[in-house]
Amino acid sequence: MSEECPPPAILWTAPKDSLRAAFEPSLFRRNSETVTARLESHLADLSVRGLELADPGDLARAARALMTTERDGIAGFDEKRLAAIVDLYVRTGIQVHSPGYMGRQFSGAVPLAGVIDFVGSVVNQPSSYYEAGQLPITAERIMAEELNRFIGWEPGRFAMVTTSGGSLANLTALLAARNRACPGIWARGEHRGRGRPAIAVGEDVHYSVTRAAGVLGIGETRIVRLPVDRRGRIAARRVPRVLAAAERRGLEVFCLVASAGTTALGAFDPIDELAGIAARRGIWLHVDGAHGASLLVSDALRHRLRGIEKADSLTWDAHKLMFVPAPCTLLFYRNAQDAPGAFRHRAASYVSDEEPDAHCAFDNGDKNVECTKRPLIMPLWTLWAMYGPALFAEKIEHLCRTTAEAHHVLLGESDFEPLHAPESNILCFRYRPREIGEDQVHRLQSRIRKQVRLGGRFFISKVDVRGTAALRVVLMNHEVTTEHFRMLLAEVRSVGDRLLREDALH
Ligand SMILES: Cc1ncc(COP(=O)(O)O)c(C=O)c1O
Repeated sequence: MSEECPPPAILWTAPKDSLRAAFEPSLFRRNSETVTARLESHLADLSVRGLELADPGDLARAARALMTTERDGIAGFDEKRLAAIVDLYVRTGIQVHSPGYMGRQFSGAVPLAGVIDFVGSVVNQPSSYYEAGQLPITAERIMAEELNRFIGWEPGRFAMVTTSGGSLANLTALLAARNRACPGIWARGEHRGRGRPAIAVGEDVHYSVTRAAGVLGIGETRIVRLPVDRRGRIAARRVPRVLAAAERRGLEVFCLVASAGTTALGAFDPIDELAGIAARRGIWLHVDGAHGASLLVSDALRHRLRGIEKADSLTWDAHKLMFVPAPCTLLFYRNAQDAPGAFRHRAASYVSDEEPDAHCAFDNGDKNVECTKRPLIMPLWTLWAMYGPALFAEKIEHLCRTTAEAHHVLLGESDFEPLHAPESNILCFRYRPREIGEDQVHRLQSRIRKQVRLGGRFFISKVDVRGTAALRVVLMNHEVTTEHFRMLLAEVRSVGDRLLREDALH
């Protein structure tokens, strides 16, 4: 290039100060301190409270009032607005750290898990591909090996992939099972087998499994329902006959789904016996352990999943009984080669290498439906790294013990009807103070649940058990005592009696 012809000036316009200000590290520190102080008081508040149920219109107005009206430029930072947003966020949630929370299966996370989740949000390392999430993917491998010590598969032969929730894990496992049994469906949308593809599930299976059947095009009429016993467990003795009848109807059952901890009763299907049946018929056995797989880490409770090493796949929600923020689910496969079977496709050119190197072997993009996925494993791995397995075992054992004690309390209350001896941390019962018809019992439980929720002191759930509504407590908080449970029963009794009095007047 001659001296008379200088290179063109490189054009670059510096970002505006207002844009840079939003990324300012010192502001980040100030924001974090504001938020941390508020969360610390939130965690320290052990008062009994459930949920402050807001009117959606009022809440939308309150939320809108916190929004900047600036539309032309980037608004200047307002620390008070941030504090108010956090306060509103905390106040309108189910108070999962309070002893009044007895209602759902997600946990008040171990605070450290929240801290690591926060790190994940700042460093933003999506974890489907090794180059984007090196430590998360490494931690996934480590956690898979750590947890497999409790499952018992041959090291190096099994696989694990994280998914955004148990529902997605169940769908993914069923896809893998379906694709193995019906190889023509993925490529050509057709199956030339012995019969029409079907799955067999217990009557109390989680709706994500039956919904997955719909997604897979199996059809609701091809879901073979397996009868359960009084405890809500699949009656294994009756399964061979039901499967044989399904076969006679032209169905080809390719997957049997057992639950390790049903949603309603927390009941554990007899995995060992079901595995024998599945193996004899060449059927994939999927265990939905979204709720109860965590019991595997406890020496005292592991026996509930006897036979788990014979399953083909296992769903394990860590955001339930491993006490990390939702969602964090681990989907295990006994045979590693089954893991990529769910999504048989060539990855897009922008994420896959034509000449794969050693790092590509650590990519998970071919095994999960998500392309961009949160580094879900990090809170779990960090807790495991910092505290070891005993943190989980101790808490789970404590919760199951308290649930058994609550059941004992219930047995001494003649106006309450316990529905089962709890196998985990879930307990279902009905308020039934006197002779009332089944219809009335059903409606009464639903109305009690709603009124208790409105009262704002306790948060419990409602579920149908054998066709009639029941009250359901799920003990996720180790600060809940039998005294709190007695307080809940007193509230249920008071609400129930008021509703019955009102009914009598009408
Ligand atoms: C037995 C069982 N399976 C699956 C699920 C769905 O899990 P998730 O809520 O993580 O999608 C649940 C949730 O309650 C469950 O109890």
